[in-house]
Amino acid sequence: MTRLPTELVSRLRPSLGGRPCCVTGGAGFIGGHLVDALISLGARVTVIDDLCNSNAAHVAGLMDLEPERVRFVHASILERAALEDAVAGCDAVFHLAALGSVPRSVEEPSRTWVVNATGTMRVLEAAQRAGVKRVIYSASSSAYGDNPALPKRESMAPEPMSPYAAAKLAGESLCRAWSACYGVETACLRYFNIFGPRQAADSAYAAVVPAFIKSLLAGEAPTVFGNGEQTRDFTHVSNAIAANLLAATSDRPLAGEVVNIGAGERTSVNTLAGLLAVLCDRPGVVPDHQPERIGEVRDSVADISAARDLLGYQPVTEIKDGLTQTVRWYRDELAPGNAR
Ligand SMILES: NC(=O)c1ccc[n+]([C@@H]2O[C@H](COP(=O)([O-])OP(=O)(O)OC[C@H]3O[C@@H](n4cnc5c(N)ncnc54)[C@H](O)[C@@H]3O)[C@@H](O)[C@H]2O)c1
Repeated sequence: MTRLPTELVSRLRPSLGGRPCCVTGGAGFIGGHLVDALISLGARVTVIDDLCNSNAAHVAGLMDLEPERVRFVHASILERAALEDAVAGCDAVFHLAALGSVPRSVEEPSRTWVVNATGTMRVLEAAQRAGVKRVIYSASSSAYGDNPALPKRESMAPEPMSPYAAAKLAGESLCRAWSACYGVETACLRYFNIFGPRQAADSAYAAVVPAFIKSLLAGEAPTVFGNGEQTRDFTHVSNAIAANLLAATSDRPLAGEVVNIGAGERTSVNTLAGLLAVLCDRPGVVPDHQPERIGEVRDSVADISAARDLLGYQPVTEIKDGLTQTVRWYRDELAPGNAR
């Protein structure tokens, strides 16, 4: 369960209590945490997810607990009727459904474009037709590409380096267009390397934090692509959830604003491997280095001042606490006999 500061919860509850909203991709990693938070704040939530990269277990558990307030539409955002059903009556849509992973997008560029770009347009169209007030879009820091300037600021020209980055960036343009032409309020949250409990660790496209933890807990060396000196702004999932909730409840009219959502701290992959090795009781383990992957950027860290100014965002969990909590979760999850 994502823990948010008490003060933030008290501020958000009056605006979200009883509010009908839709979370696309709500069976996935970040979406699942967002649904948890919305339910705990009293909202009514419809999840639409085709389960292509997740399973129904978490949402099913929430439906058992809160049958009146959680609804699941098992469908793709590309299925018009199902999408219309999912957003009907909602006043906010959190759009997270997408095919993640830069390497997967290099292998499957067309599929990535259809789900991530065309899919975003379908969500905006459905929101517009249903009279949804606001769509909060999960954008990606990959939009900055290899522009060497740090920290990344929203005013920098985007330089997408992969089909994934190009499609996520197109989603931002679509949000802005739907605000300008059709009056649907939109906000684009550019996440920087989100990690936390329940992030997929098993797929070939697993993100670096769960992949490292899984290897380390299995007694294996983590695989580092390249020399490991590439840097990222590793951001605990609670920060992304706080940003979504702030964007949904902001009094300011929103028209496609793009804001970075990170922790604002730069960590190399080698440092990450060292931190996780200690937390997994494997200090001194030597990573297995493999060739650099195509489409990956060199360095990334967020300037989060725009999110602070526009939304009142500030990170709620810093990297070390976030990693500690995440390793604890994977230890429980991977413990022998745990059938979760
Ligand atoms: N995890 C990160 O570090 C990160 C960074 C930047 C941006 N993002 C964005 O955040 C969002 C959520 O990412 P995540 O890490 O939780 O990924 P995830 O894969 O865990 O969640 C995405 C969910 O979308 C679903 N989905 C995929 N295609 C769909 C479709 N056509 N119709 C309906 N559902 C579909 C998947 O089944 C999955 O449940 C994505 O939009 C991603 O691009 C994530």
